[in-house]
Amino acid sequence: MKVLFVGDVVGSSGREMLKSYLPRLKSKYNPDVILVNGENAAGGRGINKKIAHNFFEWGADAISLGNHTWDNKEIFDFIDDEPNLIRPANYPHDTPGRGYTIIEKNRKKLAFINAMGRTFLPPLDDPFRMMESILEEVRPITPLIIVDFHAEATSEKQAMGWFLDGKVSAVLGTHTHVQTADERILPGGTAYLTDVGMVGPYDSILGMDRDAVLRRFLTQLPVRFEVAKGRAQLNAVMLELDDKQGKALSIKRIRIDDDHLFM
Ligand SMILES: [Fe+2]
Ligand SMILES: [Fe+2]
Repeated sequence: MKVLFVGDVVGSSGREMLKSYLPRLKSKYNPDVILVNGENAAGGRGINKKIAHNFFEWGADAISLGNHTWDNKEIFDFIDDEPNLIRPANYPHDTPGRGYTIIEKNRKKLAFINAMGRTFLPPLDDPFRMMESILEEVRPITPLIIVDFHAEATSEKQAMGWFLDGKVSAVLGTHTHVQTADERILPGGTAYLTDVGMVGPYDSILGMDRDAVLRRFLTQLPVRFEVAKGRAQLNAVMLELDDKQGKALSIKRIRIDDDHLFM
């Protein structure tokens, strides 16, 4: 199975970039499944129904979220009706939505799980123990398992990678919006990348307008951040998985901007 995973899509800049590049990525790699992190898709904060449906129309099979899951209030009206829109599994027990989904494509099943780290992020339930209990449910269904681990600290992400090595097909980091260059296949067969990077404004600070972010750093006053304008970037990762064992065969970073074309 070939899986394309696209990092945090930020605002209209990110949405336009996704729409224009998905057809090119599809024709180049012919992925069976396309996964997209959409936590910043609506104006940088959360996602709404129209945008989620656009992503599905453009080819996404599932959308994951993160710490911005609840920032667009519309989410509460539709998250329970969208099985392939997932939010971190380690939110408290009664939280709306679900933390994983099983996607069926080309007569194969892929489990897609979203979890969130706790270092420099809200203190959710333990994502490591949560992952153990989800894997008990998922592994009898399919060995093809992708984890979007939405976390800030590199150490926590590496820890999750090693914790799940040999138990899932890939642990892919999101949230920092900057792609790391440490892709590898761990000894147990799990593909790992600390952060996939984002899709959105290139001349920005993590996707946000630079002047506003700088004003916050320079004055320490509360400043409202807006998604930056101008040229855009796309960061993603392409995985090839062994259907029988669920092990990763290859992991390739994709980075498209005016200074790089790794695709
Ligand atoms: Fe994000
Ligand atoms: Fe995030």
